Amino acid sequence: MEFEAFRNKKIKVGEYVLMIIPATMEYAKEIFKIVSQDEKNMIFWMPDGLFESPEHVLVSYYKRNLGTRTMLFGIFKDNKLLGEIGFSNIMQKSGKVDIGYWLRKSARGKGIINKLMPRIEKMAFEQDWCHKIQLHCDAKNIASKTIAEHNGYTLEGVIRQDSKWPNGSIRDKLYFGKLKSEWKK
Ligand SMILES: CC(C)(COP(=O)(O)OP(=O)(O)OC[C@H]1O[C@@H](n2cnc3c(N)ncnc32)[C@H](O)[C@@H]1OP(=O)(O)O)[C@@H](O)C(=O)NCCC(=O)NCCS
Repeated sequence: MEFEAFRNKKIKVGEYVLMIIPATMEYAKEIFKIVSQDEKNMIFWMPDGLFESPEHVLVSYYKRNLGTRTMLFGIFKDNKLLGEIGFSNIMQKSGKVDIGYWLRKSARGKGIINKLMPRIEKMAFEQDWCHKIQLHCDAKNIASKTIAEHNGYTLEGVIRQDSKWPNGSIRDKLYFGKLKSEWKK
């Protein structure tokens, strides 16, 4: 399927449904609640700063849904929003995508991202233009680092003092990658 077409689809993966989260106030309030109740972990997903209000979420998702740079799918089970997974940076000209994900606290520890990764990888690698998937995470994000390793990503580098969190903490970043030639269909 053509890459952009996934944007309008509901994708079933076992008991989960992947679907772009509509930019509505209802979802904005829910996402704001999830993020603000778990700042300690969600800062890994939003290292430039967390949402300030539901309105901030709404504008951010609205803008995101207009663009073609990202394609992040809400992860739903029984119509409940559990998190997101997808492409946080699509670099079609250079043939690469960055993969990203987060889960609400109550959905963690069940292997959900590991279950969904193969489907997300397939979306990218089935495109002729995509030769590589990248996965970046904070050096102290053990859960994300373990997901990269579990899914066969190679650690390509540690970028020291790559970023600074709003609280002033200076962070090292791990750069993982998987090549199309390493992908097991
Ligand atoms: C990253 C995230 C989605 C992972 O959630 P998950 O898929 O439920 O992953 P788990 O909690 O099962 O953790 C994955 C693995 O890391 C291990 N792990 C997690 N935290 C750990 C810790 N502090 N020490 C050692 N191992 C740890 C788990 O045991 C699991 O190992 P396994 O696959 O061998 O069972 C979730 O932690 C999250 O939403 N974090 C906040 C946002 C975020 O960091 N997003 C990614 C940005 S790069």
